[in-house]
Amino acid sequence: MRINDNYLKLKAGYLFPEIGRRVSAFAAANPDAKIIKLGIGDVTEPLPAACREAMHKAIDDMADCASFHGYGPEQGYAWLREKIVANDYQPRGCAIEADEVFISDGSKCDTGNILDIFGPGTSNTIAVTDPVYPVYVDTNVMAGHTGEVKDNGEYEGLTYLPVTAANGFVAPLPDKPVDVIYLCFPNNPTGATASKEVLAQWVAYAKKHGSLILFDAAYEAFITDPDVPHSIYEIDGARECAIEFRSFSKNAGFTGVRCAFTVVPKTLMGKTSDGKDQAIWPLWNRRQSTKFNGASYIVQRGAEAVYSEAGKQQVADLIAFYMENAKLIRQTMTELGIDVYGGENAPYVWVKTPGAGGGLSSWEFFDKLLNECHIVGTPGSGFGAAGEGYFRISAFNSRANVIEAMKRMNERFTMASS
Ligand code: MLT
Repeated sequence: MRINDNYLKLKAGYLFPEIGRRVSAFAAANPDAKIIKLGIGDVTEPLPAACREAMHKAIDDMADCASFHGYGPEQGYAWLREKIVANDYQPRGCAIEADEVFISDGSKCDTGNILDIFGPGTSNTIAVTDPVYPVYVDTNVMAGHTGEVKDNGEYEGLTYLPVTAANGFVAPLPDKPVDVIYLCFPNNPTGATASKEVLAQWVAYAKKHGSLILFDAAYEAFITDPDVPHSIYEIDGARECAIEFRSFSKNAGFTGVRCAFTVVPKTLMGKTSDGKDQAIWPLWNRRQSTKFNGASYIVQRGAEAVYSEAGKQQVADLIAFYMENAKLIRQTMTELGIDVYGGENAPYVWVKTPGAGGGLSSWEFFDKLLNECHIVGTPGSGFGAAGEGYFRISAFNSRANVIEAMKRMNERFTMASS
């Protein structure tokens, strides 16, 4: 059989397994080191009680023929889709219908799977920010939507929009028309947010050029600033140009449980190869019906409980807990004289690596933090060339571990003032 040669174009090792390999090697060589992981954005705190109780009850439903559930709707149960609309969209004035919400087992999967319905090869021009969540790039490489990798780690054929301290980590509009644009706000990895004005510029750009915005809002629950939009659909016209991805992973601790959703408005159109307008919704509906059997009944009942009164309070408490961690991390970085960004409306703190001559490289900083403080973070260069010289610290951990990690940095970290 022939394999998909596009996989051979991928840079070696997906970022997080690569970090895992380095940490395992360090742990093997330093068996007494108590390593604290502030790398991958994986939650650590227990599931909200409301979700646990709902899932226990859902398991009991499975014990009785009258309440047993076999295959569910591929698009998700109506009771969950309706609660999402009533709680996440209607209060923000977003005109989203329940049947435009597709429940899934994760946003990472959905952002990759969505490529199934796009034109083949390089028929679409694609823009990503730099740095960027690597899944957006790698899934396009796998699908054959790019050329080869260049020496600087960028792929031929992709349009990169650098986000730096100079532009507040908000991407500039492309200087030419592109067909597909990936945006993630609050941003992974930089923790930056976009104002309504910024999103309105993107929607205007997309409508002018017939582009599609893939809007990843997996971290919207961490927004604390009341003026920051939570959804692209808060912007007039976004129903005609955007798909939105949301997740229960980070707000309700579902990284291991798996539940997310993708919104595809029925008013969103693409073009056929012979230039005719075609609605996107039936394509995604067909894709999910054919390749997906829905998230499990038990998990969807757990997700539904996020919207109960108790669930809302418990989720708010979880978010506040992680955001207090982010505050402690920001405080320590500032005390150490390290430039710090993000962490105010997002669980990620983005720091400029310290050191003489423009600072350490991202991986040098990674090694230094691991060796001196036994702390794991994520090298900014793993998110793209413009992430070089930056480093991401995740606020997802227990309070005790974050306090201990920051104490170690205060006591042992030697570089900041040099
Ligand atoms: C991250 O650390 O960037 C995220 O946890 C990755 C993910 O959500 O897939």
